[in-house]
Amino acid sequence: MSTNEPDHGGSDVAVHDGDLPARFENPGLPEHKHRLTDTDPKAARRAEKQVALLFVLSIVGTLVMIVGYFAVKMDHGLGFLDYLDRLALSNQILGIGMAVSLLGIGVGAVHWAKTLMPDEERIDYRHLQRGTDEERADAVEMLNTGVEESGFARRPLIRNTLIGAMALFPLPGIILFRDTGPLPEKVLTETFWKAGDRLTLDPEGGPIKASDMVLGAVAHVMPEGIEEAEHVLNEKAKAAVLLIRLEEDQLAPESLDGAYGGIVAYSKICTHMGCPVALYEQRTHHLLCPCHQSTFDLTQNCKVIFGPAKRALPQLPITVDDEGYLVAAAPFGEPVGPSYWERS
Ligand code: FES
Repeated sequence: MSTNEPDHGGSDVAVHDGDLPARFENPGLPEHKHRLTDTDPKAARRAEKQVALLFVLSIVGTLVMIVGYFAVKMDHGLGFLDYLDRLALSNQILGIGMAVSLLGIGVGAVHWAKTLMPDEERIDYRHLQRGTDEERADAVEMLNTGVEESGFARRPLIRNTLIGAMALFPLPGIILFRDTGPLPEKVLTETFWKAGDRLTLDPEGGPIKASDMVLGAVAHVMPEGIEEAEHVLNEKAKAAVLLIRLEEDQLAPESLDGAYGGIVAYSKICTHMGCPVALYEQRTHHLLCPCHQSTFDLTQNCKVIFGPAKRALPQLPITVDDEGYLVAAAPFGEPVGPSYWERS
């Protein structure tokens, strides 16, 4: 047993207010019993192998998870019952793999601590919150001694297998991210808009003539035919556009090319995190995102003038067709929506 005595006094006898008689004696600690691994080097070696084996078991569990994830194919062509069978099998393999992986690390660590790490009773008296510099230096030394005695440096077999198990363990989590959906790829670079698409009111439907857009009018529009899209909700989420009419001389020169008679169309998807930019302040010509208050200035080609968004709202170039209906002159010239890692 080791004792860290306080330098400002301490007593094995409890007293009351310093002048009442002692009421009980400190019973002390029972005699220390050494473990087999403390006295028998062969037992210590055996325990070391057992710990390493448990960490190896964890590695096997992790590998089973990874292999099982890829080996059990969940083809969409399967019948409903076959699909359920595969799903159950896949879940069982993933579950068993993860259980073995976690148990291997957990049981291995406990076994290591119980059999090989230092086993001795220590008394530490309660001190003031901040120790003296000497005590702090002692603490650092104790930590270093602990690292030394734990055998982390001396037992490379345990250390390496533990590092291997810990390094592999997060892999299944990363792989399972695949199930959260496809990578963005061109998801945001391509929208349903193409040259010639009529602008239709959303949700009422119906094309809009340029003459219907009086000064100060605002409309929420979608491309004609979007209701027939395969993933209509996804397409609508990307294609939402705000149509607004200002005086032509209020528009920035760079937005005039894509405007028609003072009517401009901008993506409604906030370039910060994709909320719909829903508020138009007619007096200032600002568009406001309600999520984190990004503010875009229509008179400056929807440049960000406040808030966390970093990019202007993309403009949809518009014109009119032979019948005077507003149509897209071209698709968006840049990806709509929030910034993401694939954006160049
Ligand atoms: S999503 Fe628009 S400001 Fe954050």
